[in-house]
Amino acid sequence: MTRSVARPVVCAVAADAAERAEHHRVRRAVFVDEQGIFAGDDLDSHDARDDVLHVVARVGDDVVGTVRLFPLDGRTWQGDRLAVLGTARTAGAGAPLVRFAVATAATRGGRRMVAHVQPANQRFFERLGWTAHGTEDYAGRPHVFMTIELADGVRDDQAPVLDEPGTQLGG
Ligand SMILES: CC(C)(COP(=O)(O)OP(=O)(O)OC[C@H]1O[C@@H](n2cnc3c(N)ncnc32)[C@H](O)[C@@H]1OP(=O)(O)O)[C@@H](O)C(=O)NCCC(=O)NCCS
Repeated sequence: MTRSVARPVVCAVAADAAERAEHHRVRRAVFVDEQGIFAGDDLDSHDARDDVLHVVARVGDDVVGTVRLFPLDGRTWQGDRLAVLGTARTAGAGAPLVRFAVATAATRGGRRMVAHVQPANQRFFERLGWTAHGTEDYAGRPHVFMTIELADGVRDDQAPVLDEPGTQLGG
């Protein structure tokens, strides 16, 4: 069971340029500075899409986490760039971000969501209802290809994110 944090984690789609900048700041801190997966920045062509959703997780006024999602086709959505700042980890921000991404994709007509997950996080995703389908190269490193079906819309065990105090489904 996810622990409660002192203040609620609020997930929302970045609504303006300032929130997108905060989103990118967290991604850079985790994927460039901490993990060294990318050099300089972790931007790619998906960030410029009209239909990409940049999500931020806030605790109070602070943006502590991110996830990005976009449709691969009308029914399949990809989630990536899940990141929680090192100082905010294991305090209950990562799981709501994943649930928020899943709920958002389902609300927008997605039937399936896919992700390339770092092997160290496979269990984290499995606990959230995702299924592993083997390892493949992604961003130059081995990742576990994982999926979650959204066939019935938001699954019962994914729904509480929308009911968590302060958690918003952004536009
Ligand atoms: C993976 C990550 C997003 C998890 O975020 P987090 O805020 O620490 O996650 P939460 O606090 O919401 O964790 C929820 C539960 O999963 C557990 N958990 C967290 N990371 C885990 C992991 N890698 N493996 C298994 N369980 C994990 C937590 O202990 C917690 O357990 P509990 O409910 O029993 O208390 C974070 O560790 C991170 O940003 N890592 C670096 C970047 C990264 O790896 N991104 C993902 C790329 S696939």
